[in-house]
Amino acid sequence: MLVNIWSTSHNSHQIASFATVATIATVIGAYLYYRKKVPNIPKKWTPVTKVTQLFVYPLKSGRRREVQSMYCTDLGPTFIENNVELKDRSFIVYGEKDHEFRAAKTCPKLLLIEVSVNSTGDLIFTAPEQNPLIITLPNPKGKPVIITMDNKAPAHTLDCGDEAAKWLSQYVLNKPSGLRLGYYRSQFRRDIKQQFPEYVGVYNNMRRESAGIYTNLTSYHLINQRSIDALNQHLVEPTSANNFRANIIVESDNLEAYSEEYWDWIKIGDVVMRLIRPCTRCAMTTVHPERAAYSKQREPLKSLERVNNPKQPAYFKLEGKRGVMGIQVELWKTGEIQVGDEVFIA
Ligand SMILES: *[C@@H]1O[C@H](CO)[C@@H](O)[C@H](O)[C@H]1NC(C)=O
Ligand SMILES: *[C@@H]1O[C@H](CO)[C@@H](O)[C@H](O)[C@H]1NC(C)=O
Repeated sequence: MLVNIWSTSHNSHQIASFATVATIATVIGAYLYYRKKVPNIPKKWTPVTKVTQLFVYPLKSGRRREVQSMYCTDLGPTFIENNVELKDRSFIVYGEKDHEFRAAKTCPKLLLIEVSVNSTGDLIFTAPEQNPLIITLPNPKGKPVIITMDNKAPAHTLDCGDEAAKWLSQYVLNKPSGLRLGYYRSQFRRDIKQQFPEYVGVYNNMRRESAGIYTNLTSYHLINQRSIDALNQHLVEPTSANNFRANIIVESDNLEAYSEEYWDWIKIGDVVMRLIRPCTRCAMTTVHPERAAYSKQREPLKSLERVNNPKQPAYFKLEGKRGVMGIQVELWKTGEIQVGDEVFIA
């Protein structure tokens, strides 16, 4: 009897200590894995410049909304107008038949559609010589439509109804149908590593969490005004950051052109971001944001391709002589940022 009690307690002691060791090993293992995956946010920061302009684009390829402050979420910037939140690239236009998204590259008129909220809280789309369109947001629990984005990557969207579809088709295509309007579905996030497999192993900071709602890649895009100024030295008609559709414009006298491409961590107010990719540019930058027409000379892209290419050998190997303007960044810490805020790097 006595022996039995001893051996039982001995066993349970062994089991308990094995469990403890296993738990500790798991915790240490998880910690090491986490440390490898999740770098620590730096503690020492150097001020480099200031925020001079902030933009949100509620409709992908639509007109910019300039704001004095914006809230930075991990899906991109948002701002509140008359108690309604407008999120960056949260509306998207897609083909009624092919379900492919449409951008200003093929539908330049999209650039003149402005999204706003009037003082009675109605969400309104306006475009030149069109009656305003009042949008009723789709039921967030409604059935998603599967659309395709760049590289045929699937994305979910919630259709905004027939009236919106008719208004868009009439304005963009001059016919009563052909295009539909989608609004983002919060449960869905694209897998950008699958969408852009060629970037994996090249842009090493890129994660699924880097993606914005319907942005091309990351949730944020930042441009240094000095880089635009440097490009303008080569152009007959000066361009502006508006051709490049960034969210955050920074500027200061002593900031060198294109120096932002060497940044890693970025802090503005409480917000912490990280560079994913210097942004190589496409034909969309040659569509004038006010005239909604292509540049016959293919500017400013043609000059950009001559004066600023990817600098790191691995990036150049992948992208070749494409023009680079600004940086694509992702969010690490949410918060509000304002025009005039200092920008720190680490
Ligand atoms: C806001 O837009 C709606 C729809 O057009 C309209 O009924 C309402 O009167 C507008 N509010 C104001 C203050 O103009
Ligand atoms: C999105 O980015 C990819 C890669 O840079 C580019 O090939 C494509 O044209 C871009 N799409 C749009 C709509 O800008």
